[in-house]
Amino acid sequence: MPATLTLAEEILELKRLRRAVILAHHYQSSEIQELADAVGDSLELARAARNFDGDVIAFCGVWFMAETAKVLNPTRTVVVPDRDAGCSLVDSCTADQLRAWRRAHPDYAVVSYINTSVEVKAESDILCTSRNAVAIVNSIPASQPVLFLPDINLGNYVKSQTGRQNMRIWQGACIVHATFPARRLTAARLAHPEALVAAHPECPSDVLRMADFIGSTSAIIDWCVSNSAPEFIVMTESGVSHSLQKLAPHKRFHFVANENCNCSECPHMRRNTLEKLRDSLDRLEPRVELAPDLIARAALPIERMLAVK
Ligand code: 13P
Ligand code: SF4
Repeated sequence: MPATLTLAEEILELKRLRRAVILAHHYQSSEIQELADAVGDSLELARAARNFDGDVIAFCGVWFMAETAKVLNPTRTVVVPDRDAGCSLVDSCTADQLRAWRRAHPDYAVVSYINTSVEVKAESDILCTSRNAVAIVNSIPASQPVLFLPDINLGNYVKSQTGRQNMRIWQGACIVHATFPARRLTAARLAHPEALVAAHPECPSDVLRMADFIGSTSAIIDWCVSNSAPEFIVMTESGVSHSLQKLAPHKRFHFVANENCNCSECPHMRRNTLEKLRDSLDRLEPRVELAPDLIARAALPIERMLAVK
């Protein structure tokens, strides 16, 4: 490759040579989002992974999202810029733990958040994302008890929205959203009294109680852009500011630092860089490799979710 190419040009050239598509989650850096063919929340990216022409997906997100893309594209190559881009929710529940939980509650249906390992997905009846979790739980007959995992905050939010009492919730949490303290949101509201509050459902219930809108990353962006208010406090990862500023440059957006990193960035998502994206397209590594039987078992609950409108 000519030495004079910029990093972005190198990536675009490798993308062409590899017949690759670049999918980026909203929590990626602005530079990565600018190069992506599609930017979205986890549900939109799963759908995008199912509908594309090409041989390679460069998944700029975290590992579980790339695993989902691989399940939906078993014959294609799926790479992630950084193999260590994990997720605290994935780590909070293993397949062994889910099997034990299921054994203790054999009559329950298992609804797993997409933020789980492919092995946990394979043990689940249906998946959900933050965008469709209420609709997914509502799609299950009211008399059918449900095990919901692994996010306690999303689970409690779904329980409050569906009014469902026969739902047991795992105790996992997101290190970014679960550590947004309500007192910092209160201080932000005092500092910006005109601002409306939009929050991701992985936030704690005392934060969600103060929100004017609760939704997935893309739903938050759509709501802030379409709402007539000029100012918002956004309780999610600050990567969404890239789309917010592009789509509503005249509006003001404030982010609240959490107690984990004293910032509002996901340390896992932010492991991906342009350099690592270039190298992953060049070497086709780190690559998601999954056994065919695991793919077959995990595909079922994913497809069941995608079939729910
Ligand atoms: P979305 O489903 O909103 O993309 O969220 C994924 C995620 O990891 C949130 O922390
Ligand atoms: Fe996981 Fe939280 Fe990062 Fe989302 S923000 S990928 S839930 S650790």
